[in-house]
Amino acid sequence: MAKPIPLIERYREFLPITDATPIISLGEGGTPLVKASNLPRVLGVPELQIHFKLEGLNPTGSFKDRGMTLAMSKALEAKASAVICASTGNTSASAAAFATKAGLPCYVLLPAGHVALGKLAQAILYGAKVVPIDGNFDQALDLVRELAEHCQITIVNSINPFRLEGQKTAALEVIEQLEKAPDFLFIPVGNAGNISAYWRGFKLGKSSGRSDSLPRMCGFEASGSAAIVRGKVIEKPETIATAIRIGNPASWQEAERAASESNGLIDEVTDEEILAAYQLIARTEGIFCEPSSAAGVAGLIKHLKKGTVSSDATVVCVLTGNGLKDPDTPLKVSKPDLTPVAANLKSLREAIGL
Ligand code: F0G
Repeated sequence: MAKPIPLIERYREFLPITDATPIISLGEGGTPLVKASNLPRVLGVPELQIHFKLEGLNPTGSFKDRGMTLAMSKALEAKASAVICASTGNTSASAAAFATKAGLPCYVLLPAGHVALGKLAQAILYGAKVVPIDGNFDQALDLVRELAEHCQITIVNSINPFRLEGQKTAALEVIEQLEKAPDFLFIPVGNAGNISAYWRGFKLGKSSGRSDSLPRMCGFEASGSAAIVRGKVIEKPETIATAIRIGNPASWQEAERAASESNGLIDEVTDEEILAAYQLIARTEGIFCEPSSAAGVAGLIKHLKKGTVSSDATVVCVLTGNGLKDPDTPLKVSKPDLTPVAANLKSLREAIGL
């Protein structure tokens, strides 16, 4: 069987590594780009080419692993003694896993009561020291920065420059898989690192001759946390999409530049729009992403209605995290009748109407 090539090896020429960098890999990257079969027709635009980048198939179930492999490798190279992050959940799961692989202690600060169960479970089981904070993500990140001024500890949030460098590889993969850059990229925005990283990757793809064009970058915040859209810090961010429940995005400026340089946009979508898209992706395409990941698709639906996207465009939607991370939301949105049926044929036939 062919050995999986670590992401860092595959894109070595584009990454800040040397022969001395120890590579900490869990088999990240190389995620599928799957073309939608039914959604365009359901949306009334059968000619639209929608592709999903399934980042939930990374080893810890989110796109964070692309940045974490590099951040952790560089931390080890720099002889770090421990790593720390604030997180809405996915960064903590990824940091915990890669830190364990690297043999480093890991501390994670989480906004208490606002992290999906699967992410918390991961951070705990991978062996991180989990500290729930009586505050939101922005406060947790401020605390992490403050602590790092006093202690020898490496921050592995996306303010660590190696994180976005690793994450930009996703755009290079999209170009390889489509054999061109898409016309549009639709992506959720929380701390605004990933949209910034993709834009770096697409620009690199063009400058290195891998693609002839650049996509329009379309990022979507949740309405209750839409700091960039509103042009002001949101002190009390709220949304069902807990992964992007962030009121003061760290990569704010770079994300705005990505949108403006690409003739794209940063807009908002409501929780209702996010949950509708979340269910639609599952029911039309058989893809289970987490609610936050559906924000990009909700944005696509919104902008199809507005006419921003032509009906025969090639569109990539980044599905940033695996739906299994958040086992509670499906039951809340679907309210299925799970009353047990007697174990006999008659009752079964009655129950399913066959
Ligand atoms: N989608 C998911 C599933 C996420 O976990 C995040 C961010 C985003 C989208 C937004 O990406 O922050 O680069 O704009 N999660 C971070 C975390 C904040 O702590 O796991 P972004």
